[in-house]
Amino acid sequence: MKLVPKSPNGGSRKAEPLLSGGVPGFKKPVSRSRTIRIDFRNVAIAPESLMDKFVIRGGNPLVGSVRISGAKNAALPAMAAAILTDEPVILENIPDVRDIHTERNLLVSMGADVELGYGRASHRTTISCNNLVNPEAAYELVKTMRASTLVLGPLLARMGRARVSQPGGCAIGARPIDLHIKGLERLGATIKQEHGYIEASAERLHGGHIIFDKITVTGTEDLMMAATLAQGETIMENCAREPEVTDLAALLTKMGAKIEGAGTHTIRIHGVKKLHGARHRIIPDRIEAGTFVIAAVLTGGDLQLTNCDPSHLGSLIQKLEECGVSIKAGTDSMRVTNGHQLVAADISTEEFPGFPTDMQAQYMTLATQSQGTSIITENIFENRFMHAHELVRMGANIRVEGSRAIVRGKTPLSSAAVQCSDLRASASLVIAALVADGETIIDRVYHVDRGYERIEEKLKGVGAQIRRIGEILPKRAAAPSVVA
Ligand code: EPZ
Repeated sequence: MKLVPKSPNGGSRKAEPLLSGGVPGFKKPVSRSRTIRIDFRNVAIAPESLMDKFVIRGGNPLVGSVRISGAKNAALPAMAAAILTDEPVILENIPDVRDIHTERNLLVSMGADVELGYGRASHRTTISCNNLVNPEAAYELVKTMRASTLVLGPLLARMGRARVSQPGGCAIGARPIDLHIKGLERLGATIKQEHGYIEASAERLHGGHIIFDKITVTGTEDLMMAATLAQGETIMENCAREPEVTDLAALLTKMGAKIEGAGTHTIRIHGVKKLHGARHRIIPDRIEAGTFVIAAVLTGGDLQLTNCDPSHLGSLIQKLEECGVSIKAGTDSMRVTNGHQLVAADISTEEFPGFPTDMQAQYMTLATQSQGTSIITENIFENRFMHAHELVRMGANIRVEGSRAIVRGKTPLSSAAVQCSDLRASASLVIAALVADGETIIDRVYHVDRGYERIEEKLKGVGAQIRRIGEILPKRAAAPSVVA
């Protein structure tokens, strides 16, 4: 993915790799790890990378070692948490993915100072929100990444007001944020919704008792952040227990917040007057790790994953062992070897520690190669089977009935031109292409770039035949599929 300096009329000039001096007047620092200050208001996503495709020749076992990046879904709330203090917050192990760049744009648009690490420090960012002038998350940014709404609670708590665009619908479901709003109102916020924006204000939030109607990950994170600066105690029940929630609480505690119970269904927050700066290392990305585990299993590889945390993947590892896979898990690494015929096993997606919905699509690809019938039940999002239609184009036998998909295997997969519809659906297609016979062309890979750091380089590094290409290909490729 390329970031390019915006031309004066807001369009984008010719693409130049960012960190090798793309920015006008940028001089390469001499030392190996210095931070550079980049004015993200003048950087845009190179339009042509929105047309990128992957060409993958299947049939190569993945052999070797892959280093897992930091978790996108932990980094995003952690960056929003920087709003809660006027002192610098230093975050390490930040993944270099598109959503992180969007979040940086968002923070800078409010007046934050974002420094990006370089060289050995390239996964570090320092965020200073000592001069927030514009507590607003504009539609232009929120529409590209719904997690932008995570700034709502922190802005309200720190600035006493916030204007955040309603996120609107998403490929995988309606995904309203009514529970965020209800929670903030219980902490004393006045909230109006008009012209597609949420206008929130509160002199100072006060503690309260919140019972979430439904378990919501970013809802728990948003309210937890807001409550850190509220007057008095907040008790939140039916909270999400995802590792990303616990990681955010760890950062907030380093910033001086008083939080108990993160990682359980009940979280208590004793509000404080002020928070201070901190340095925090983001947890590894369990979904990226799970994606590589399934890719290794299906290609019959022998893969070592490093910088990961197997304890965050208990339900996936258990399910794969049920399918006949052997996984050696260490404290921060995993080794996946597979030579056996997979047997079918059902899954149903649940909140953590249940089977993660963000691994459902990748598991569906695995089920197409398992002997027998696997029933996949999606309980979290109402429209998260878009990938099934593309897998059928590659020869899979899948029938979708409402929130269930019935997968009959094993069926050989053959190459085809397919397209991504959302982040995790894209991962399932990349894995299918690694297994399929022939050369598969995957369109709209900008979805992959949102949450996977340099996936094609990581895959190539362990033996996959994959390359990223631009617009030229369509002339030679089979007509792309029509997705409803
Ligand atoms: C987080 O989304 C993740 N995103 C998602 O990962 C993940 O799929 C999801 O949690 C579930 O694990 C980030 O952390 C940035 P929810 P979030 O609120 O918080 C309903 C990926 O691939 N709901 O836990 O938005 C909602 O519609 C992404 O990396 C309400 O009804 O999910 C859904 O059905 C995709 N009202 C359910 O709750 C609300 O106010 C769970 O959603 C909030 C949620």
